[in-house]
Amino acid sequence: MAIIAPSILAADFANLKHQLSLIEQAGAKWVHIDVMDGHFVPNITFGPAIIAAVRKMTKLFLDVHLMVHEPDFIIPKYREAGADLITVHVEAIAHLYRTLQLIKHVGARVGVSLNPATSAHCLEPIISEVDLILAMTVNPGFGGQEFIPAIVPKLAQIDNMIRAQDRAIYLEVDGGIDSQTAPVVIRSGANVLVAGTAIFKQDDIVAAFEQLNNCCQSDSENRI
Ligand code: DX5
Ligand code: ZN
Repeated sequence: MAIIAPSILAADFANLKHQLSLIEQAGAKWVHIDVMDGHFVPNITFGPAIIAAVRKMTKLFLDVHLMVHEPDFIIPKYREAGADLITVHVEAIAHLYRTLQLIKHVGARVGVSLNPATSAHCLEPIISEVDLILAMTVNPGFGGQEFIPAIVPKLAQIDNMIRAQDRAIYLEVDGGIDSQTAPVVIRSGANVLVAGTAIFKQDDIVAAFEQLNNCCQSDSENRI
């Protein structure tokens, strides 16, 4: 069963509480929050105060994606603000193993993310420490970009690495996910799909979520 994680990066921030209620109404269980520092990626988004505000607005699982250079100093603040899962980028951290231990220490679930050009082999030393692997399917920093098909073989490679572990690890994809690309990534092992534009930029958010969710459920049943 694939999980859809709507990304609030694409939401109408003037109506965020209402739009979160719409995805809840549509059946969402997760919400994806893209944190950008203007250093690791050429954009700036949400500090811990916004996560704390979102925490008060919704009961959804807060899937917080830190596109932040050397984030150790701020990870406790995102956890205090209400992050349920914190994902960091392998490319942004000199001492990644220590950062993953810090996320676990503060009580959040642990995620690690690979940019499009980063090899899945980077995961080998740390796969035992994570609850989720996020394979970027666009260059991080902005919503509304084109899906990068070249990532699909990497998804299958990561899926094989996960299957070799003796416990469940989520395989999340992020960027350019819609009803066309969703079946492709699910067939390669993705089971958490981040979608911003395909949901929050549509006229009918509830219908958009339901349509993407339906197309994901039918395809995840096709996986062996
Ligand atoms: C990139 C962001 C986007 C966003 C989803 O850094 O992480 O991938 O969440 O974008 P779209 O609008 O492509 O679903
Ligand atoms: Zn993201």
